Amino acid sequence: MTADGRVGVNDLRRMKKAGERIVMVTAYDYPTARAVDAAGVDVILVGDSLGVVLLGYKDTLRVTMADMIHHTAAVVRAKTRALVVADMPFLSYQTDVPSAIRNAGRLVQRGGAVAVKLEGGREFVPAVEGIVRAGIPVMGHLGYTPQSILRFGGPRVMGKSAKGAERLADDARALEEAGVLAIVLEAMPPDVAAEVTARSGVPTIGIGAGPRCDGQVLVTHDLAGMFDDFTPRFVKRFGAVGAALTEATAAFAREVRAGTFPDANHSYGRPEAEPS
Ligand code: KIV
Repeated sequence: MTADGRVGVNDLRRMKKAGERIVMVTAYDYPTARAVDAAGVDVILVGDSLGVVLLGYKDTLRVTMADMIHHTAAVVRAKTRALVVADMPFLSYQTDVPSAIRNAGRLVQRGGAVAVKLEGGREFVPAVEGIVRAGIPVMGHLGYTPQSILRFGGPRVMGKSAKGAERLADDARALEEAGVLAIVLEAMPPDVAAEVTARSGVPTIGIGAGPRCDGQVLVTHDLAGMFDDFTPRFVKRFGAVGAALTEATAAFAREVRAGTFPDANHSYGRPEAEPS
């Protein structure tokens, strides 16, 4: 923990050593950050998934640095106990190392993030090293990496062949040597994620990667059951928040239309005497 009782970057490595599972969820705004922090999560990820979940884009490619700074700052204003990590959006680190460092710095300076996350393996080692050298903790992200959707043609499970699994293990080693604080493993067979986890000195946080990672992450809107149209296989719904919101709104609409809201209990009374 940091001096003010918040989860610090070093706590994740300590948790791996102690065999304590790391819990990470997404939040993109102030009320959600407060709600998930009250649940005692360890890490809040301001994911670029906000492009899909919050803004209705079909993928994450249109998310900008301005979007990420805006939403990170809202999450940080919730003053969470959880560590806040912000995603580096598409093209904020892929072009050159100085831009990667500058953009990571903007997420910290203007957004207030404690760490940044970027997608990709050995090809991004120079960017990771540069950002870490600038004093900014970096989380890696391997396996299915949504910013590469045009190359992959859509979500897919990675590391299914022996060669693919070996490539993931090599990428994890390269990221660890470059100084990442943890690595998200997305969409891969559980035994592949377990092998990467066993060989890694830094914690792994799985999503669609089986139970033997050092922690798990889900998109909060998915775990809370905000949407009921499409649910990937790896998502478990722990609530029905979307239905609850629709029901509450429908109840409000019914009472407004019936003229029963607002009643006296929800109206201001007249003071005995008007203050002069
Ligand atoms: O953008 C995101 O929310 C993510 C997680 C799903 C790992 O990268």
